[in-house]
Amino acid sequence: MKNLELDLGERSYPIFIARDLLGAPDLWCKYITSQQVCIVTNDTIAPLYLEKLKAQLSDKTVCEVILPDGEAYKTLATLEQIFDTLLEENHNRTTTLIALGGGVVGDMCGFAAACYQRGVRFVQIPSTLLSMVDSSVGGKTGVNHPLGKNMIGAFHQPNCVLADLSLLDTLPEREFSAGLAEVIKYGLICDAPFFEWLEKNITGLMRRDTDLLEEAVYRSCVNKAEVVAEDEREGGRRAILNLGHTFGHAIETAEGYGNWLHGEAVSAGMVLAMALSVELGWLSDDILVRGKMLLQLSGLPVAPPENMDVDQFLQLMGRDKKVLDGRLRLVLLKGLGESVVSSDAPVEMIVQVLRAAGVRA
Ligand code: NAD
Ligand code: GLY
Repeated sequence: MKNLELDLGERSYPIFIARDLLGAPDLWCKYITSQQVCIVTNDTIAPLYLEKLKAQLSDKTVCEVILPDGEAYKTLATLEQIFDTLLEENHNRTTTLIALGGGVVGDMCGFAAACYQRGVRFVQIPSTLLSMVDSSVGGKTGVNHPLGKNMIGAFHQPNCVLADLSLLDTLPEREFSAGLAEVIKYGLICDAPFFEWLEKNITGLMRRDTDLLEEAVYRSCVNKAEVVAEDEREGGRRAILNLGHTFGHAIETAEGYGNWLHGEAVSAGMVLAMALSVELGWLSDDILVRGKMLLQLSGLPVAPPENMDVDQFLQLMGRDKKVLDGRLRLVLLKGLGESVVSSDAPVEMIVQVLRAAGVRA
């Protein structure tokens, strides 16, 4: 087993990474201090893992909320289901919510925990690779709005994260690949040795070798924890975690939530961000080629969708949270493992890079 701590003073919390963590409550039960517990999950994950989790909580008063599965349901309307259950079951301010699921469940459960009675405790049990290496760590919670992704939310840190690698046994291949996009992101933005390790081990990782997976999740979480500890509320450095996300969010919004997976959109977006960095003269073409190759070997798309045009990209990117005073701020690379947040790329250059990637005028 591997574990680490996200250091946020009195709001610090542990992240445990191993197989069969659900079956080892001695390790994590102490982080559930309340008698009342509400498990939030969805209708795909519930039949697989809900009973196993509930069996570990037999001394608690447990209720459950089973949400419909899908990014399309990551809305304020769906959130009501959680509040309805908490109120109907008379949950008080000491209650603990448990997110059992991927990033969609985790973001919604975390936001419900941030809002319910102005903030209650919650535990993340991520069940996708993406949620283990990214969304369950760092306290960003929220829901989508028809006009923009993750536009309504709050920072609310969990009290513990349990990355039980055995949950990945049932994860579809496409979802596994989507998670690898965020893993590769850490290598690109801040950890060149990790990128090189990934290049060497991508075949074994794609086979879901346990030791390799444990190492990849651990090193991803170490990188994320280090960035979040330095800049919890994204006043500065944390923005580097959004490499490729401004392009990616435009893709997700244009294609309709859920049609392109978040990790797939981020993968194509990271290639565009690397190409822009090359165009600015900041990154060598060789790193772009290696980055693209690693993403491809991970089963990810490296080009934007064919049905989008340049205006659509620019319009949707302009709505992204990372626009400051009307200028597009993008995460770009100045080398492997060296990222900057910059508004140096002129719109004409962004258009040129989009056109070169096959996006229609
Ligand atoms: P997801 O939560 O939609 O899960 C993907 C699919 O896999 C779903 O159908 C789900 O039901 C299924 N699934 C989950 N675990 C499974 C398992 N163990 N076995 C079988 N099926 C399983 O998607 P995701 O990729 O985990 O998360 C994407 C979401 O995370 C997006 O909404 C994105 O905005 C958000 N996100 C948030 C942050 C953050 O910092 N809060 C960071 C990155 C992404
Ligand atoms: N996934 C980006 C962040 O947590 O800041």
